[in-house]
Amino acid sequence: DTGVVTYDPGFMNTAACRSEITYIDGDAGILRYRGYPIEQLAARSTYLEVSYLLAKGELPTPAQYEAFETRVLRHTHVHEGFRALIRAFPRTAHPMAIVSSAISALPGFYPEVFETSDDEAEELASILLLAKTPTIVAYVLNHVNGEEMLDAEPSHGFIEDFLRLALGQSREGEFGPEVVAAMDMLFVLHADHEQNCSTATVRAVGSADTNLFLSVAAGINALSGPKHGGANEAVLSMLEEIRDTHGDAGSFVTKVKDKASGARLMGFGHRVYKNYDPRAAIVKEATDSVLKALGARDELLDLAMGLEEIALSDEYFVQRKLYPNVDFYTGLIYRAMGFPTSMFTPLFAVGRTPGWIAQWREMMHDPATKIARPRQVYTGPDERDFVALSERR
Ligand code: SDX
Repeated sequence: DTGVVTYDPGFMNTAACRSEITYIDGDAGILRYRGYPIEQLAARSTYLEVSYLLAKGELPTPAQYEAFETRVLRHTHVHEGFRALIRAFPRTAHPMAIVSSAISALPGFYPEVFETSDDEAEELASILLLAKTPTIVAYVLNHVNGEEMLDAEPSHGFIEDFLRLALGQSREGEFGPEVVAAMDMLFVLHADHEQNCSTATVRAVGSADTNLFLSVAAGINALSGPKHGGANEAVLSMLEEIRDTHGDAGSFVTKVKDKASGARLMGFGHRVYKNYDPRAAIVKEATDSVLKALGARDELLDLAMGLEEIALSDEYFVQRKLYPNVDFYTGLIYRAMGFPTSMFTPLFAVGRTPGWIAQWREMMHDPATKIARPRQVYTGPDERDFVALSERR
């Protein structure tokens, strides 16, 4: 009666599951975390506060927020073994592969998480994952850049210290408040998105009673695909390809419309949004102000806006309801901050970590959850008898 798809306790045995965390109306372009519109959260909340909201279901009181923030900041450092683990990879390895391996290593380095009561263990695992993922991503970038991995100093602030660890050695001076606020807002925009490919993966792996760290590591691997989180990296490659062909966006759009080319307009289209992704609109607006705050001009921003204008006036895209999604503009901000393209999807993973945590916890506490076991329609051969090798022709 509310239009909610009937919940099947078998989980994954149907195309839907039940959740109280995030609501999306793909036709109207609506996104809400625990009922709060993404536009309000992006403008007025923070990544840590949204992390609390997604997990607990309510915005924290000042006392609750202070206790939560203090606990997270106490855990942003990582065991020395993570530096060695990350350095063991070639510097040319894709950062998402290194991040996934490092998150998979967390249970080995923090076994105490599994030695306390279920609720306390779950809370501790959530705090550790939220606190350490940004540091791990920063160290992966340090490794890619051949830089040392500095100790976390959370007294700077959660986002500020992440930016210091990740980019502090490759740029002069601290980032201004506008840039810190933009990074925080981008993490808020990516924090959760209902049952997307990587979140459904986290839920499926967790439904086998797999611990939070390993379930999220599986989600990181799903996110790395160019159809999903890898799209923000693919958008930059697409814009650079157009720039290198004299900025001829029209020819590229023509190529995309010719299916035989296999080319897609990366950062466009969505499984659910058949309208403008509300996150894309917020990022587009922020891109211009962050570039100004950084004193950066990016010809690719003008190119992206031109490409959007061409696509949104072209029947091919309008008819298929293909609009910009969250990945279309984010890479331009990350690039202006100094992140290499290969780090864009790890940044998406940092943003999405609180959503994966909240969704995993909700699934683990739902009495109706069973192990993920998708059913199939068998289309293979009927029964037949084995033929000995010597008799086969
Ligand atoms: C994310 O699910 C989530 O919530 C994900 C996410 C999150 O926050 O977790 O929002 C993050 O992953 C955003 C999406 C990022 N990916 C991209 O930008 C990659 C480019 N987009 C496409 O590959 C595609 O749009 C998908 C994968 C995102 C959605 O694919 P669908 O819904 O399965 O679309 P489809 O393949 O059914 O396409 C329908 C039509 C087809 O044409 P016809 O066969 O009808 O002629 O639209 C065409 C497609 O060829 N089409 C595109 C296109 N996307 C779909 N044509 C050109 N460019 C595109 N980007």
